[in-house]
Order: sequence, then structure tokens, then C-alpha cells
Amino acid sequence: MKLFAIAGSVRPDSYNRALLKAMAELASENTSITLYDRIRDIPTFDPDIADEDLPEPVTHLISELRAADGIIISTAEYAHSVPGVLKNLLDWLVASDVLILKPVVVTSVSTSGLGGVRAHSPLVLILAAMNTNVVIEGSINVPCAHNKFDENYNLTDALTKSAIAVSLTALEQAINKG
Ligand SMILES: Cc1cc2nc3c(=O)[nH]c(=O)nc-3n(C[C@H](O)[C@H](O)[C@H](O)COP(=O)(O)O)c2cc1C
Repeated sequence: MKLFAIAGSVRPDSYNRALLKAMAELASENTSITLYDRIRDIPTFDPDIADEDLPEPVTHLISELRAADGIIISTAEYAHSVPGVLKNLLDWLVASDVLILKPVVVTSVSTSGLGGVRAHSPLVLILAAMNTNVVIEGSINVPCAHNKFDENYNLTDALTKSAIAVSLTALEQAINKG
């Protein structure tokens, strides 16, 4: 199973990226998770750019998504919603068929006590509007992130590790059903 994981944060020390790294480490032997590291390269969405003229970072992203069996998107929360950088990335994909019916797990991590749920919910709606197969049983919200990772951003929280196992199993089942 080949998974592609996008963190909705540009911070090098992003907790969302740290969660995806933990998911990659905890995944079973037959699962590979590639962490996307070019979100900063995605230009501002312009719907007037024709498909054949898409910027290279966008065509690279589309080819990585196409090659994946399933996707994980982990979002930060800014001002009670999805970070602009993540919404901008998704806007480039709306006219493409790359995410249609693709199994997608949504996770969110925040230093606040709600775990980014106010970004998580609108992200699910955006992905539903794009006709992805959002695997709700795979959702994870991680509140109080500063207490769940060590100083090197390694996941230390046992409950979150259990949630990751459940999440990856749900994603695998959705992929196998497809
Ligand atoms: C400008 C700004 C606005 C934020 N707004 C919210 C918010 O509305 N709700 C929330 O739960 N956390 C909010 N946060 C906290 C972030 O969710 C938290 O810093 C989180 O760790 C960011 O994700 P990252 O570590 O993956 O970059 C905000 C942080 C910043 C810098």
C-alpha cells in the first residue's frame, strides 16, 4: 500500500508533519508513506491557467497523488479554519480528476485543547466537494500537541499511537474495497 501524506503547515517543526512522520514509522511493513515536502513551492491558485500550462510544483504534486493508493492530510488550524496554504494547494486539484474517489484520511494537530477540529471539519467538507472518498473512521484529532511529542518532535503519546493504528487500518480497508 502506497500512501502520500500532506501536512497543512509550512513550519519545519510542524506538529502536523510530526504526526505524519509518526504514522510513517508506525505503518506496517507493506505500507509506505511518502511525506510531501514541497507545499511552500505551490504558487497562488489561478483558475485561468490551462491544464497544459500548470506550474511544475502542481504537476509534480498531481503525479505523486496519482501514484498513491491513499492520501493522508493533516491540517493545522488558523483562525478557526483550514490554513490558506492547504486550501490553495487543494484549489489547484479541483479541476483535476486526481482525487476523485481516492481514499483520504484527515487528521489535525493543534497546541489548543480542541485538536484543530474547527479546521478538520471544513477540510472534510472541501474534500467531499472534490468527490474524494473521505475515510471518516480514520480521522485523528490531536489536542495539546506540545504534550504529545518530545523535544525532537517524536510522538510519545500512547493513545495517539493507538489512534494511528486504527486510522491506518481504516484507510487500508477503504483502499482494498475500492
Ligand atoms: C496565527 C495563528 C492562528 C492560530 N489559530 C488557531 C485556531 O484558531 N485554533 C487552534 O486550535 N489553533 C490555532 N493556532 C495554533 C496552531 O494550530 C498550532 O500552532 C499548531 O501547532 C500549528 O500546526 P503546526 O505545528 O503543524 O504548524 C494558531 C496559530 C497561529 C500561529
